[in-house]
Amino acid sequence: MSGAALEVEGLNAGYGKVTVVHDLSLTVPEGAVVALLGPNGAGKTSTLGAITGTVRASSGAIRLFGERIDGLSSYYRARRGLTLVPEGRGIFPGLSVGENLELAVESARGVDPAWRRTQMARVQDMFPALGGRLKQRAGTLSGGEQQMLAMSHAFLANPRVLMMDEISAGLAPLIVQKLYDAVAELKSDGTTIVLVEQYLSYALRLADICYVMARGSVGFVGEPAELQGAGVSYL
Ligand SMILES: Nc1ncnc2c1ncn2[C@@H]1O[C@H](COP(=O)(O)OP(=O)(O)OP(=O)(O)O)[C@@H](O)[C@H]1O
Ligand SMILES: [Mg+2]
Repeated sequence: MSGAALEVEGLNAGYGKVTVVHDLSLTVPEGAVVALLGPNGAGKTSTLGAITGTVRASSGAIRLFGERIDGLSSYYRARRGLTLVPEGRGIFPGLSVGENLELAVESARGVDPAWRRTQMARVQDMFPALGGRLKQRAGTLSGGEQQMLAMSHAFLANPRVLMMDEISAGLAPLIVQKLYDAVAELKSDGTTIVLVEQYLSYALRLADICYVMARGSVGFVGEPAELQGAGVSYL
C-alpha cells in the first residue's frame, strides 16, 4: 500500500438547507478495504453521494490519488475511476443480462478490446449464475443475481476506487457470501475498495480499516479487531 487513493477532508453535505454529513474526514489507502459502517440513517449513502457528486457538499476537499475532484461533475469523477455500486442496485431492468454487461464494458475507461474480453469472461466466471442467463431480461433476475449484475457492472468500469453501498441488503446469507467472495477476489488483486454496510460480519472480515458513523459524523476509526472493545453502541 502506498499513499491515499481517496481522501476526504472536512466534508459537510446534505439536502436543501439540511446538513446530514458533518465535518467528515476519511482516508482510503491504495489497495486497502475500508468499511464505512453505521445504523440506519447515519449518513453512509449521503457520504458516498457527496464523494461521487450526486449529493451537494457545502464544504470539504475530496482527493482521488492526490488530485482534487470535488469541483468536478459526477460524470468526470467516474471517468477518473471513482465507481459506485449504488444502494438498491443500478442495473437496466429492461435490457438483457448480456446487454447490461456490454454497456458496462463499453463505458470502461480507456482499455483495449483484449482487456474487455478478459474482464467479460472473468465476471461470468466470478458469477456463473449470470453467465448462464445472458439473454434473460435483467429485471426478471432474483435479488441476488441483480446484485451480482450491479457489481459486475462496476467491476467492468475498471475502477481505481470501487465503492459499494450495502450489497448484502435483503439477501440470504448464502448469496451474500458469494458476493463477498467476489469482493475478496478483487481485494487480492489490489483493488481499492470502500464497503458501506449496516450489517458487520462480512465487511469486518475483509476490512483493513473501519469508520463507524452515527448521526452524520464519524464516531470511531480503527481496525476491525479494535471495534469489538470500543463500545460502539449499535454493534
Ligand atoms: N433525498 C433526501 N432528501 C432529504 N433527506 C435525505 C435524503 N436522503 C437521505 N436523507 C436523510 O439524510 C440522513 C442520512 O441518510 P442516509 O441515507 O445517508 O443514511 P444511511 O446511513 O445510508 O442509512 P441506511 O443504512 O438506511 O441506508 C437521514 O436523516 C435521511 O433521512
Ligand atoms: Mg444507505
